[in-house]
Amino acid sequence: MSEVGRERPPRLGVNIDHVATLRNARGGEHPDPLRAARIAEEAGADGITAHLREDRRHIRDADIARLVRESLLALNLEMAASEEMCRIALAHRPHAVCLVPERRQELTTEGGLDAVGGAERLAPVIGALSAAGIRVSLFVDPEPAQVAMAARLKAFAVELHTGRYCDAEGAERARALERLRESAGEARRQGLECHAGHGLGFETVGPVAAIPEIVELNIGHFLVGEAVFLGLGEAIRRMRQRIAEGCALKARQTRQ
Ligand code: PXP
Repeated sequence: MSEVGRERPPRLGVNIDHVATLRNARGGEHPDPLRAARIAEEAGADGITAHLREDRRHIRDADIARLVRESLLALNLEMAASEEMCRIALAHRPHAVCLVPERRQELTTEGGLDAVGGAERLAPVIGALSAAGIRVSLFVDPEPAQVAMAARLKAFAVELHTGRYCDAEGAERARALERLRESAGEARRQGLECHAGHGLGFETVGPVAAIPEIVELNIGHFLVGEAVFLGLGEAIRRMRQRIAEGCALKARQTRQ
């Protein structure tokens, strides 16, 4: 895949955790994450992402069962590399699992997984999920050493944490983007698929989508927030547009 000749923009996985956050605020069934998955599909999303946290603060076990059974889009299940989560994943067999670090007190997934330091603990989880035909990705900070370890652990993909890039401004954001580029290049050299996500919005997605090795973006909080104003389908369509524009701009710059 050359920079100019990228075949298509990255896939968009819509993270519906915060539809469940809203539902849980009142303890009932509305709004339903499965309905959100159906709207995402109609709006052109390529997949659904959901994080089953240890404390079940948003997505619940029953949501995972319904999403696997009833959604037309492939499910990417985000989860900690724990025994309990591994059992649940093996029971439901989602299309993909993204292993993430998890701390109970955090508001969201604050940093990437330490694949280097946690290799021994991760290896059997990756092995068991992969043997069941599930595509395993590791959510890591954009550091080439973490990417290289993901390859040694025989993961299918890495998902690069874009939070620092999104939070930074000016020269610091440019440096963070460069780290994403370097790590995406390392993923390609190591034979891994490269995904990215966390904190992305309309203003930040373009330059990440333009990195040619990145073939999937997982975006949630911004889309669900924007759905309040635009509706979920329209928020997703606009995000796809921004992704396509980011890729097109990069292609034009490379040709000049
Ligand atoms: N990718 C991973 C691995 C995540 O943990 C999250 C947050 O749950 C996302 C993507 C989506 O991040 P955001 O909700 O900030 O778009």
